[in-house]
Amino acid sequence: MAIIKKTIIVPILKLISPIFNQDTVLKEIEYKFEGSNLGLEMSSVFISDIHFDDNYESFIKFYETINQIKNIKPDVIFLGGDYLGDFKHYNKNYEDRIISAFNKLSKIAPVYAIAGNHEYYNNSSFVDALKNSNVNLLINECSIIKFRGAKICLRGFGDNITNNYQYIPYPNDQYDLYLNLVHDPYLIQLINEKGFYLAGHTHDGQIRIPYVNPSAWIPSEAKNEYINGFNQDSVKSWYTSSGYGTSTAPIRIGTQSEIVLIRLKF
Ligand SMILES: [Fe+2]
Repeated sequence: MAIIKKTIIVPILKLISPIFNQDTVLKEIEYKFEGSNLGLEMSSVFISDIHFDDNYESFIKFYETINQIKNIKPDVIFLGGDYLGDFKHYNKNYEDRIISAFNKLSKIAPVYAIAGNHEYYNNSSFVDALKNSNVNLLINECSIIKFRGAKICLRGFGDNITNNYQYIPYPNDQYDLYLNLVHDPYLIQLINEKGFYLAGHTHDGQIRIPYVNPSAWIPSEAKNEYINGFNQDSVKSWYTSSGYGTSTAPIRIGTQSEIVLIRLKF
């Protein structure tokens, strides 16, 4: 199957990809944390799965997105992992250009990021580069965000697909809002604790064909309710983004490239 995918399916998808080029939309959602009632609203922008290509167009597109975010004036920016694209292109210059773009993003608002599976492929040094950037990288650790007198607990988890996940509990204190950043939404299902979770990784299947369940090619153990969009159960709420970029082939059918503006009320 892998050889058919590599020699037939992927080249065909790449050939027809210009037909399916699409704009990235700004999606807006609202989340109200029932545990507190301070009358506060923190606007956050969430971007996941950028999968930069090692070319001029990919970076120009992202710099346009940075300008768009500048106009939104968010209080905080969250990055959900998988910044790197095809690992054949990994090189120092490519990684440096991504770090430059993220440093520019951090001039708009504090940036909190996790690493996805792509950051660990091909002996990439990108996680170390992120640690030395202006981005706050969280790998199985918690950061306390202070916002207008309120205390927000943000946990960022390592990627489970590449064995970099380790469970950490919320710190033993009271917070006004509980947030979590995970790459693979399977971790939302696994951790299953109170709060709001942001995830990416799935690209919503990237290609959705009517009557065909994309779970066969979505590389996650997560149940259907975790694969895309906003959802909640009696314990927690979550949003899994369909992502900004693409992987394997630069094509989306029946799914949307997005950045997400989340109004967090608490
Ligand atoms: Fe991923």
